[in-house]
Amino acid sequence: MLVNATNMLLKARDGHYAVGQFNINNLEWTKSVLLTAQELNSPVILGVSEGAGKYMTGFKTVAAMVKAMDESLGITVPVALHLDHGTYEGAKACVAAGFTSIMFDGSHYDIDENVAKTTELVALAHDHGLSIEAEVGSIGGEEDGVVGMGEIADPAQCAMIAGLGIDFLAAGIGNIHGKYPANWKGLDFEALDKIHGATNNIPLVLHGGTGIPEEMIKKAISLGVSKINVNTECQLSFADATRKYIEAGKDLQGKGFDPRKLLAPGAEAIKATVREKIELFGSANKA
Ligand code: 13P
Repeated sequence: MLVNATNMLLKARDGHYAVGQFNINNLEWTKSVLLTAQELNSPVILGVSEGAGKYMTGFKTVAAMVKAMDESLGITVPVALHLDHGTYEGAKACVAAGFTSIMFDGSHYDIDENVAKTTELVALAHDHGLSIEAEVGSIGGEEDGVVGMGEIADPAQCAMIAGLGIDFLAAGIGNIHGKYPANWKGLDFEALDKIHGATNNIPLVLHGGTGIPEEMIKKAISLGVSKINVNTECQLSFADATRKYIEAGKDLQGKGFDPRKLLAPGAEAIKATVREKIELFGSANKA
């Protein structure tokens, strides 16, 4: 069931768990995430970066595929189709394409421009029934060409952006896209606590969910995080399972080269990763 992400995240906030956003890249990814969420009776958010949207030939294709697949698989758990780290133009395109949720990432603008553009997109998103996420401070590392320095968000700026009527807020707290370096200092819980205190209990979003240790995930949830984004970890699981299949020479046995066989171990591996995260985030049986 395609819905916006507002209610599922308010429920998560009040129930002290988090909903996973799993980024999708193609049909197999989408199917694996949807089937796992359904199996675990969990709400779920499908994240689409602008790069992945382009790869899948555009946001219209993505929206049509997700809508049709959700129906064909008989998915009854709440599913939001969400733009990840959207530009101003990308956010508008996703509203037109039929997404149910958008993120506008204005964190690289100065605060006045971030406020102006976020304000405009809040009105547009809400007019069309979509939920909207905005960002303050930046997520470190790189995701599909979006590069961040990993600045810790300023609580006063978070309060300003949260007050614009957005539905959930991404705030940099030392989190990084991709794998964490060995010398990573961990999440800045003091900053998270201050941001939570300054933003009137708005659901907070933790980007860079790959590789964050279990105790840190649980602590972040206890301090107001209601949505956790995972991308790289599914990519690594998929690649690892596919490599093993090929290295074992299975593509050369019988019709093992058939893409439906070749991609099956990777798709199963994504399911296992999504299952593990949903269980860790506590959203199983919360649909
Ligand atoms: P990871 O790739 O580190 O899991 O981060 C995902 C993310 O934050 C998507 O916006």
